[in-house]
Amino acid sequence: MPKITIPDLLSKKKNGQKITCLTAYDAPTAQMLDEAGIDLVLVGDTLGNVILGYENTLPVTISDMVHHTKAAKKGIKNVFLAADMPLSSFVSEGLALADADLLVEAGAEAVKIEGIRHVSIIKELVKNDIPVIGHLGFLPQSIGTDGGPAVKGKTVEEADSLISAARLLESAGVFSMVLELVKPDIAKKITSSVKVPTIGIGSGPYCDGQILVVNDMLGLTCGKVPNFVKKYADLKDVVVDAAKKYAEEVRGLKFPSV
Ligand code: KIV
Repeated sequence: MPKITIPDLLSKKKNGQKITCLTAYDAPTAQMLDEAGIDLVLVGDTLGNVILGYENTLPVTISDMVHHTKAAKKGIKNVFLAADMPLSSFVSEGLALADADLLVEAGAEAVKIEGIRHVSIIKELVKNDIPVIGHLGFLPQSIGTDGGPAVKGKTVEEADSLISAARLLESAGVFSMVLELVKPDIAKKITSSVKVPTIGIGSGPYCDGQILVVNDMLGLTCGKVPNFVKKYADLKDVVVDAAKKYAEEVRGLKFPSV
């Protein structure tokens, strides 16, 4: 399989082929997703929840993101690698631009930015040849002001403002956008209103592609996972059973053998 590029992702939308995306935060996982033929790996700031043990994405730093982007980069050959800009990058425009550079140096081929608040930063990055993925709907970095996960686009006003936001992001130069927890018929409208591919998470089947948090879909998440997640494996049980068997054999003097 050849290296996936932005033109490949754009032509998938044109040709009606779905774009497959998953998160990864380390080299071996990124390598397995690459081997599986996934199109795009995102080093998401869900790193905070699923790897670093935080309650949400807010405390994730640029150093965390750079560290894990470097690791994921080591695992990949063909997959397109994107990384999230953490909340702390948006203290100033200058810092955001410098942090985006750090992610690119770490191996990211694009950065993802939540919402439309930072549209001037998006334009500046695009002007400086740093590809940007937008993110609309539920915005985990805004839980402090907007509250927890909830489906967006239920009222006419909310639906209209999501559609205008999607057009604004497209005109700012994003080459793709994530739609998180957007009401499926509104996600469908957005998908047909913009030329760039939409990547859904909890937003129904009409987006141009789908993304899930890899730990959730592999059954590796110890806490509650969102209702929209489909578990494709139960790796937590596999790990617990293997660790129990190992402990039993060490205690029973069966491992290592003489
Ligand atoms: O941080 C993340 O992993 C994400 C995806 C869930 C889209 O933003």
